Amino acid sequence: MERGLRRFEGKTAVITGGATGVGFATARRLAEEGARVVIGGRRADVGLQAEEALRAAGLEAAFVAADVADEVQVRLLMDEAVRRYGSLDVLVNNAATFSPGGFMETPWPEWRRVFDVIVSGAYFCTKEAARLMIAQGAKGRIVNVSSINSTRALEESSHYNAAKGALDQLTRNTALELIGRGIRVNGVALGFIDTPMSVVDGVKEHETDWFRDIYVARKKIPQQRTGKPEEAAGAIAFLASDDASYLCGAVVPVDGGLSITF
Ligand SMILES: NC(=O)c1ccc[n+]([C@@H]2O[C@H](COP(=O)([O-])OP(=O)(O)OC[C@H]3O[C@@H](n4cnc5c(N)ncnc54)[C@H](O)[C@@H]3O)[C@@H](O)[C@H]2O)c1
Repeated sequence: MERGLRRFEGKTAVITGGATGVGFATARRLAEEGARVVIGGRRADVGLQAEEALRAAGLEAAFVAADVADEVQVRLLMDEAVRRYGSLDVLVNNAATFSPGGFMETPWPEWRRVFDVIVSGAYFCTKEAARLMIAQGAKGRIVNVSSINSTRALEESSHYNAAKGALDQLTRNTALELIGRGIRVNGVALGFIDTPMSVVDGVKEHETDWFRDIYVARKKIPQQRTGKPEEAAGAIAFLASDDASYLCGAVVPVDGGLSITF
């Protein structure tokens, strides 16, 4: 990070799925810039480890167990953030789930699970966070973590891609409806970021021959590499900060240029 930036001093940020990957890097970045961060996630063991790692670095962080697909748990998560730290200023809708599968082979429960987490999760979290942000009369910022696949087709990803497409529409529609109430909503569309989600069937997709051939050697990704979680976090922190004061409903690609070569 750029040393010395303290854009979130005195602010409270909730990051869903914030114990791993992009979410954890975002929690760290916001906390390094002065935020008190609340990590919302399903898995207590991983969540408590993340909390401990941030606290060991002298940062203010708390893990709260919550499944974003459960409205009641989401309400408790947001209420706990305010109870603990006194306000809720930033929400990062980052939690997602995905297991690859062809459209014809994807059973209804799996299709619904992906939509429950990505779309309904963002719906519940945005609604509950906005309720508190509006009640406190302060400025709020919401950043939705999407994917470049929200506007593109890819084999074995119809459920995930359709859900991310819906998430982008939620970004635009909530941006429109909430801006007049002091809340700015934007999103990032991530490309290939090196995280636990990029391991498919035990194989890191970035280390496969097809990835090296198509994306690196043939420059499908102009920057010829994957992104680091910290690079995604930098863009998310920007959108959550006052530096992005004139961005409203934007979904910003963070993909090393991949979307310009499609
Ligand atoms: N890694 C990539 O290449 C990539 C590309 C495009 C978009 N993204 C997006 O970035 C975000 C972060 O993903 P990541 O790559 O860091 O992977 P990740 O698997 O490390 O992060 C996802 C997190 O969400 C949590 N989660 C899943 N279901 C949940 C639920 N019901 N309630 C609460 N938490 C839940 C997981 O436990 C995990 O901590 C996701 O929205 C993902 O779709 C990632």
